[in-house]
Amino acid sequence: MSFLSETLARVKPSPTIAVTTKAQELKAAGLDVIGLGAGEPDFDTPENIKAAAVRAIETGKTKYTAVDGIIELKQAICAKLKRDNGLDYDPKQVSVSSGGKQVLYNALKATCNPGDEVIIPAPYWVSYPDMVLLAGGTPVAVEGTLANNFKITADQLEAAITPKTKWLIFNSPSNPTGAGYSHDELKALTDVLLRHPHVWVMTDDMYEHLAFDGFEFCTPAQVEPKLYDRTLTVNGVSKAYAMTGWRIGYAAGPVELINAMRKVQSQSTSNPCSISQYAAVEALNGPQDYLAVNNETFVRRRNLVVSMLNDIDGVTCPTPEGAFYVYPDIAGCIGKTSKAGTVITNDEDFATALLEETGVAVVFGAAFGLSPNFRVSYATSDEALLEACTRIQTFCAALT
Ligand SMILES: Cc1ncc(COP(=O)(O)O)c(C=O)c1O
Repeated sequence: MSFLSETLARVKPSPTIAVTTKAQELKAAGLDVIGLGAGEPDFDTPENIKAAAVRAIETGKTKYTAVDGIIELKQAICAKLKRDNGLDYDPKQVSVSSGGKQVLYNALKATCNPGDEVIIPAPYWVSYPDMVLLAGGTPVAVEGTLANNFKITADQLEAAITPKTKWLIFNSPSNPTGAGYSHDELKALTDVLLRHPHVWVMTDDMYEHLAFDGFEFCTPAQVEPKLYDRTLTVNGVSKAYAMTGWRIGYAAGPVELINAMRKVQSQSTSNPCSISQYAAVEALNGPQDYLAVNNETFVRRRNLVVSMLNDIDGVTCPTPEGAFYVYPDIAGCIGKTSKAGTVITNDEDFATALLEETGVAVVFGAAFGLSPNFRVSYATSDEALLEACTRIQTFCAALT
């Protein structure tokens, strides 16, 4: 019998790690590798935020804080939720953790019993299903289609709900597709949830501010106020403020749930980094004008990548509304053979051959629960994107 727990045995190692490790090995061996795998902005954290952190250090804000966040940050979060989302929350309804990832994990850990089902639209952020498994629940994937820009429909949601369903995890704009649900599309889903009062919604709004071409971000409790009492609204500073390393995420929801999440955190990590919390106060309360400036850069890069990928025979790449990812469909490349002789039987073969033969690192679609696709993160320089897409074009042109 294994020394390791049965729960852990149900969890897969991160499929993205294999790609990253392989890319590092090839780079170390001298190959010119272009990484399009990273899920973080390439911009530096803004100066005003860094200055707030320095001030926190200099004024001794370096001790334990309240387990789930300082009051100043909870107030800043409430002000943000009001300002951006029209949602009223009290600091007692807010929990701050070491990244959005810990927020989601705490919530699942605090609520899932064996047999509880959690509906996860696919393609999904790699961590959702495994977090559900770690928390003892059962992930239920519902596949979006290319024809619907990878979004799920109300009928699909309705069909997936059972008496055991506990949560719907909702993520818009999405990692890995960048797809965003319009107000009407989300309303169709919240209408379904209204008919099933035992189902709660955990909305991961991490890419809220990365929304393009006039796309209007919306979140479930705003679209359907009747769901307020069974919605956990999750967000963070990692992506919008280029603060992935600072590790601050947060959630707002019913007090009983927030208290339960605090209990999980109090017996595991305690408070998130004190200095990062003061930096996050500045991120949320300070100037927001660079968000629009960053988005101009992201739109330019998105357009470059989408158009270069769509020029390839066998590749179809929808234009996403937000985030910094695209998720091209490569059905037309499956079954072919690469120049170096690799038979491409699935998207993992495609990504491996692409990396080995051209040095371009992407993450294959199976990792996100929908194939055959791959994910490109375009949070890297225009020059690198141009070169990478040119290599992808050459690689695909040589498939026979
Ligand atoms: C959809 C989504 N949710 C949550 C997270 C986690 O963010 P954080 O770095 O704040 O833990 C990520 C990070 O990649 C993400 O893509």
